[in-house]
Amino acid sequence: MQTIPVPLARHAYDIHVGRGLLGEAAERVRAVLQPHRIAVVADETVAGLYGETLREALAAGGADAVLVTFPAGEASKRLAQAEVLHEALLAEGLDRKSALVALGGGVTGDLAGFVAATFLRGIPFVQAPTSLLAMVDSSSGGKTGVNLRAGKNLVGAFHQPALVLADIDTLRTLPREELLSGLAEVVKHGVIRDAAYFELVETGAEAILALDPETLAAVVAGSCRIKGAVVAEDEREESGVRALLNLGHTFGHAYEAASGYALRHGEAVAMGMIAACHLAERLGLSEAALRERLAALLRRIGLPCTAPAYDAEDLLATMRGDKKRERGRHRFVLPRSLGTAEVVTVDDEDAVREALRLTISE
Ligand code: NAD
Ligand code: GLY
Repeated sequence: MQTIPVPLARHAYDIHVGRGLLGEAAERVRAVLQPHRIAVVADETVAGLYGETLREALAAGGADAVLVTFPAGEASKRLAQAEVLHEALLAEGLDRKSALVALGGGVTGDLAGFVAATFLRGIPFVQAPTSLLAMVDSSSGGKTGVNLRAGKNLVGAFHQPALVLADIDTLRTLPREELLSGLAEVVKHGVIRDAAYFELVETGAEAILALDPETLAAVVAGSCRIKGAVVAEDEREESGVRALLNLGHTFGHAYEAASGYALRHGEAVAMGMIAACHLAERLGLSEAALRERLAALLRRIGLPCTAPAYDAEDLLATMRGDKKRERGRHRFVLPRSLGTAEVVTVDDEDAVREALRLTISE
């Protein structure tokens, strides 16, 4: 097992990455929390696979543990579902000295984390991520929340977990397309922050796809180190450092919207990273060699690096509505070289159009 400390001033916590961690959860949870009662919150799919294993492990360790479930999928990330969970926690007898464990992918972490942040004005929670995306990205950093009709994650709270338990064994049951979605974020971490990590992913690409546990553990731990360091520098996304985690996401969100959400998030982020490279090249910030190396890795993994020929004006209109814009100006995370990126304000929409055009025929 590897342990990655996230050294936040007020809420420092550890991320444990390894095999069989769900079965050992009682000991690890007890080391940081001594709750009256614990609710394991999971979507129905993950609950069916791992819910009882975790609940029984917690109960065998002396905890008073219950399992609470909700329907799987992004559609559950709503205030109405959060309220159903609040009521269920109350009915299960949780009080202010209780805790919650979010067992599942990013939807569960965001929703259950939000419920933990708001139930009885806030109870502690543990993240037990089971999708690659949740392990490498959403389970650490403390962003929790739900969607509104107008857009994703528009209601939420920063609520840091007391502990993250990333049990690599759970990835064995993860559908292939969900694995790829997480890999887009893995590659992103290398591009923005760490050339050596990018090389680790290049070297291990086939072993990752074959679900080799040691390689997966190294990749998850590496990503958690990168994300943990970024969050420790800029917990509330104020200085701009945390915003670097959005590489490929401004273009990506526009691609997702243009596809009517038929594209998966990871696919859209992969295309978005290539578009960001093209834009960086147009602006004289990076070299074609970086884009070519990134595209080669994405292709090997099975992620797309060309975009369908969506209407550029539609894509630009979506980007103009991006919630991360500042005073109506486009802001993009653009790569400089492998391992470094920066947030750049771009007023030249023709350069953005050109980047979009080049990504179609990359
Ligand atoms: P998800 O939670 O919906 O999981 C994807 C699917 O995989 C679900 O059907 C789930 O039931 C299933 N699943 C999960 N683990 C499994 C396993 N081990 N075996 C079999 N099936 C499994 O989606 P996701 O891709 O994990 O997360 C996406 C969400 O994360 C989005 O809502 C996004 O906004 C959010 N997110 C949040 C942050 C953050 O910092 N809070 C960062 C990135 C993404
Ligand atoms: N996934 C972006 C962030 O945590 O800030």
